[in-house]
Amino acid sequence: MSEKSVCVSDYEENAKRILPKVVFDYYISGADDEETLADNIAAFSRWKFCPRVLRDVSTVDLSVSVLGQQINMPVCVAATAMQRMAHPDGETATARACKAEGTGMTLSSWATSTIEEVAAAAPGGLRWMQLYIYKDRDLTLSLVRRAEKAGYKGIFVTVDTPYLGRRRNDVRNQFKLPPNLSMVNFESPDLAFSSKENFREDNGLALYVAQSIDPSLKWEDIAWLKSMTTLPVVLKGILTAEDAKEALKYGIDGILVSNHGARQLDGVLATIDALPEIVEAVGGRVEVFLDGGVRRGTDVLKALALGARAVFLGRPILWGLSCDGEKGVREILRLVREELRLAVALTGCRSLKEVSRSILRKSGISSRI
Ligand SMILES: Cc1cc2nc3c(=O)[nH]c(=O)nc-3n(C[C@H](O)[C@H](O)[C@H](O)COP(=O)(O)O)c2cc1C
Repeated sequence: MSEKSVCVSDYEENAKRILPKVVFDYYISGADDEETLADNIAAFSRWKFCPRVLRDVSTVDLSVSVLGQQINMPVCVAATAMQRMAHPDGETATARACKAEGTGMTLSSWATSTIEEVAAAAPGGLRWMQLYIYKDRDLTLSLVRRAEKAGYKGIFVTVDTPYLGRRRNDVRNQFKLPPNLSMVNFESPDLAFSSKENFREDNGLALYVAQSIDPSLKWEDIAWLKSMTTLPVVLKGILTAEDAKEALKYGIDGILVSNHGARQLDGVLATIDALPEIVEAVGGRVEVFLDGGVRRGTDVLKALALGARAVFLGRPILWGLSCDGEKGVREILRLVREELRLAVALTGCRSLKEVSRSILRKSGISSRI
């Protein structure tokens, strides 16, 4: 009988025991030498709190709105592909957990559950659609239309993946989906990542991206997407003030500061280090979000203090899902919320409106490297 899991890393350890190695490796890996993967986590430790005291923190309000939708806490679920490898209920379990805990989830274009079944699994829940822009624009648009019809509240378009980052374990393991699963939002076996091509010795998913995702994407394509939908459009994968300013010119509705969980270009800044210049460049004109390396309530609070409206969890959700399906995801969400509540109170804040840059100092040394 294993001990009770009390933090996200306990769930990660259990997931490692439970999952087939090929699946765990796919979920956990970053690109190349995984420098950014380590730094996404370590960088949080370079920021230190300066708490205020004697401020009556007997109640703490964590509620916030994201793109106009009210949620219970500034912690949402990032798009992660192929969740049925973690648990048979996959994305539908994540959707139910998010609804139960009062937060929103992003569904990956590469989900192993359909857009519609995820919506039906948790009616009234808050969901956004993560969009890869395919070479085939009609197909891309059909994903948007299906998300609109199924009541999704925004499009998170991923802009950091003209090609797939090189994750060495996936190459070593010849990663592919188990035969009973596919990316079910696509009909053709090629696009559903279930064709024989994936059984090549090569990195099948990199080949998939090279064949189907559009590497010629540029700002005009964002203008095109904006013109095609009335849903808010968030750019996922911005890491510089320059691109954030450019994004504003195209009328985008939000920016997700993300390095794709360190799975694309290795050696980029940790997201918490990229956040301040982007927040400054945006100057409050649109909402700014962050993902990457968020593992504890204190990480969430640091991101909020540096100007993020909310954060998104990627791998922690996969660990909860692997351990216990919907219940496991709920446990992760509750755990991070309670850690956040404690951290907010211990810095002397009573609501997220009181959280500001003044509660943080940058220190050169990370306690985790
Ligand atoms: C296993 C896995 C699959 C992912 N799949 C997608 C995806 O399909 N689309 C996407 O835009 N980002 C994807 N991401 C990136 C996440 O949306 C998010 O940026 C990242 O996981 C956040 O970092 P964290 O895992 O450290 O929390 C994936 C990440 C992981 C770990």
